[in-house]
Amino acid sequence: MAEKGGVCVTGAGGFVASWVVKLLLSKHYFVHGTLRNPKDEKYSHLHRMEKESKNLKLVKADLLDYDSLVSAIHGCTGVFHVASPVPSTTVPNPEVEVLEPAVKGTLNVLKACLEAKVKQVVYVSSAAAVVMNPSWPKDRVMDESCWSDKEYCRTTKNWYSLSKTEAESEAWEFSRQTGLDIVTICPTLILGPILQSNVNASTLVLLKILKDGYEPLENKLRMIVDVRDVAEAILMAYEKPEAEGRYICTAHLIKAKDLVDKLRSLYPQYNCPKNFTEVENEERVSSEKLQRLGWRYRPLEETLIDSVESYRAAGLLD
Ligand SMILES: NC(=O)c1ccc[n+]([C@@H]2O[C@H](COP(=O)([O-])OP(=O)(O)OC[C@H]3O[C@@H](n4cnc5c(N)ncnc54)[C@H](OP(=O)(O)O)[C@@H]3O)[C@@H](O)[C@H]2O)c1
Repeated sequence: MAEKGGVCVTGAGGFVASWVVKLLLSKHYFVHGTLRNPKDEKYSHLHRMEKESKNLKLVKADLLDYDSLVSAIHGCTGVFHVASPVPSTTVPNPEVEVLEPAVKGTLNVLKACLEAKVKQVVYVSSAAAVVMNPSWPKDRVMDESCWSDKEYCRTTKNWYSLSKTEAESEAWEFSRQTGLDIVTICPTLILGPILQSNVNASTLVLLKILKDGYEPLENKLRMIVDVRDVAEAILMAYEKPEAEGRYICTAHLIKAKDLVDKLRSLYPQYNCPKNFTEVENEERVSSEKLQRLGWRYRPLEETLIDSVESYRAAGLLD
């Protein structure tokens, strides 16, 4: 099959981005994957992909180094901006560690896209930029018109949500001012098999459940989507000419206790939490808009089984 145009994936070594790179290569795109430090051993899965495919070029770039982004994006017709800090614990300096790379980093990527005359950008935002909104009516399912309240994120010290909300709203403002064509994808909690060797924040959520890391566990409503389905959504947003605006990307709504019951029935040998505390979190989001674009998702069991098998293979459950 003929090679497609060049595209760039930022933060190519991350959990989601690695699957985006893999999907793009399988569809014969020529991919520039940006990494902060290409020599790092943690990117060995990408080095393997680079060896196996003539279509992957790994390049060094940092979100806060504009010139490095310009060189990485040069010659690309499309950009998938995936990189952003996703902390798994509280960070001492959220302005520097989370907000700046997310917000300034996103604007740097978009400016570089404009300079390189990129035709289409897909920005991976998050449901965290949707759901932190106490004014949204409790009985109404949240759709793409709902935005997290920045002041509320700040007062509740939810720096990650603030970073994603600011970055996405700035991205839309940039698009309005410059005419750069962007589409955003807002996934909920992403699980699924890992390609990378390090453990990212959302993978840690499931690992800690399997290893009794949360005891007692808050019986929260969880909104889960498979990383492979997220990659498909991202590509669909890029390839479908009718794609526009934001897309919430979620598949399964499940209480934490029901998730644990499911895991225990599949894997009785692991030490899942037995005690639960009740909490109020009834926000629900809908991915109807994405489904109207043609997006489909796999069953939750498949996601759980493939996740656990990949953790076993990586020795994370020993
Ligand atoms: N996982 C989820 O549940 C979830 C849900 C909704 C949205 N998302 C979004 O999906 C995207 C990917 O998340 P993930 O789960 O794949 O997390 P991840 O595995 O931690 O990947 C994050 C990536 O961002 C890169 N990065 C961070 N700061 C950077 C900087 N200053 N310059 C360049 N790269 C930088 C990291 O690069 P290094 O490898 O150099 O550290 C890493 O590749 C993020 O935008 C996140 O907000 C994730």
